[in-house]
Amino acid sequence: MRNKSANHGLAVLILAAGQGTRMESSQPKVLLSVGGYPMLYFLLRQANALKPQAIGLVVGHKGDVVREEVQQNIKKWGVVRPLTFVQQKQTLGSGHAVMESSSFLKKFQSVLVYCGDTPLLTFETLFSLLKLHQEQKSQITLLTAKLPNPKGYGRILRSPMGDVLKIVEDAEANSKELAVSEVNSGVYCFETAALLEVLKSLTPKGIKREYYLTDAVELVRSKGGRVTAYLSPNPEEILGVNSKIQLSQVERIFNRRGLERLMLSGVTIVDPTHTYVDADVEIGQDSVLQPGTILRGQTKIGKQCQIGPFVYLENALISNESEVRMGSCVVDSRVLEKSSVGPFANLRPGSVVGPRARVGNFTEIKASKIGFGSKVPHLSYVGDADIAEEVNIGAGTITCNFDGTEKHKTVVGPKVFIGSNVNLVAPVRIGRGAKIGAGSTITEDVPEDSLAIARSRQVIKSFNHKKK
Ligand code: UD1
Ligand code: MG
Repeated sequence: MRNKSANHGLAVLILAAGQGTRMESSQPKVLLSVGGYPMLYFLLRQANALKPQAIGLVVGHKGDVVREEVQQNIKKWGVVRPLTFVQQKQTLGSGHAVMESSSFLKKFQSVLVYCGDTPLLTFETLFSLLKLHQEQKSQITLLTAKLPNPKGYGRILRSPMGDVLKIVEDAEANSKELAVSEVNSGVYCFETAALLEVLKSLTPKGIKREYYLTDAVELVRSKGGRVTAYLSPNPEEILGVNSKIQLSQVERIFNRRGLERLMLSGVTIVDPTHTYVDADVEIGQDSVLQPGTILRGQTKIGKQCQIGPFVYLENALISNESEVRMGSCVVDSRVLEKSSVGPFANLRPGSVVGPRARVGNFTEIKASKIGFGSKVPHLSYVGDADIAEEVNIGAGTITCNFDGTEKHKTVVGPKVFIGSNVNLVAPVRIGRGAKIGAGSTITEDVPEDSLAIARSRQVIKSFNHKKK
């Protein structure tokens, strides 16, 4: 059925089959992480946003790994356009990758092709390129950019009139061509029929005997076709990742983009050069990030929160007016309104703290709930526990949740007071309003409103000091 919102007749083809030799990595290049996601996530997300009729993804080197990663995450990544995998059996170059996709491509009038290693491309640029392609009725519209250091990229050769004549690859270029600063971004919009026609004439080139997609430009022109270039207003977005050095450069740009987006929406970032955020982190107005803050994954922070310095949050939810102080770590956990965590606290996965609760210094919480107004202020380990509201847990209290084979639960009722240095040997329940004496080792349930003391009595003995 024809989807009215789709860009009818348009396909997007992402080339992701290359080995990425220069990355020196055992992982496929397109799965290496930037901005907290595999590179491919950003390319698929942009493709989806353009609403093509279909997306093609060419996989080859470790194709099964790439395919599995994409299939597992496609829903989570919000990609809803139909996706077709194309297997490139031998990776014989970008031109060959497109040739191998011909049975997918021939169903569409136009195709937007881009590489799997340019994750900084923005929707706005891709959209403008498509628009220009449609307006100019060209057979090829290229995205180009002027770079101060064009090394490694294909160079755009133009006629004296400014028409694009051909692309020459870095490895093939002579010294005059190498001096050209306008480069090929690896993003092209093609009229499919013209593309498929010239692909037949590609010949392998270079030491690796590869078929270059870039040769399509000269071939289309030689058949009287029209080639247009769109010079990117923002050259940094075409950066390709071909080495770990470029990976770090792209990571830095993602980070800067994320920080700017947050600052523009009202977040105070004390030192952006020492603050790191993944692409999809969300933060409310008037929250403050102190230096050394690292926010990973799907972390969401509410309004008027104080975070840092030196705090690590991963898939954390921090609600309004909470603080996570110096040296703390929160992973896959939630800190609800007006709560305070740290300094030097560790919230491990599955923990919920608050509202108005406090987890203090040198305290580890794992898969536990610390209820409304409850406090675990110092030197405790709370694991697999359900702590109700207004509980006070003394310094050095430990839930002994592991019997060597299995984990067990500790349940603490409302308004319980636990003295310092208590061991709660799970499974165990402490009833509402109970009090536990300091230094106790609690092995049995404690009823409501009672006092439990489980420690040996103090004994005082006098010494007989013998005189020599
Ligand atoms: C390519 C362009 C170059 C451009 C640059 C932009 C060619 C010949 N050159 O060079 O003009 O300036 O991108 O970043 O295209 N791939 C396959 N199958 C293969 C080989 C590659 O799918 O057999 C994919 C790779 O996974 C990658 C893309 O094609 O996503 C480009 O390959 P890469 O080796 O990175 O080409 P570059 O040298 O960067
Ligand atoms: Mg590349």
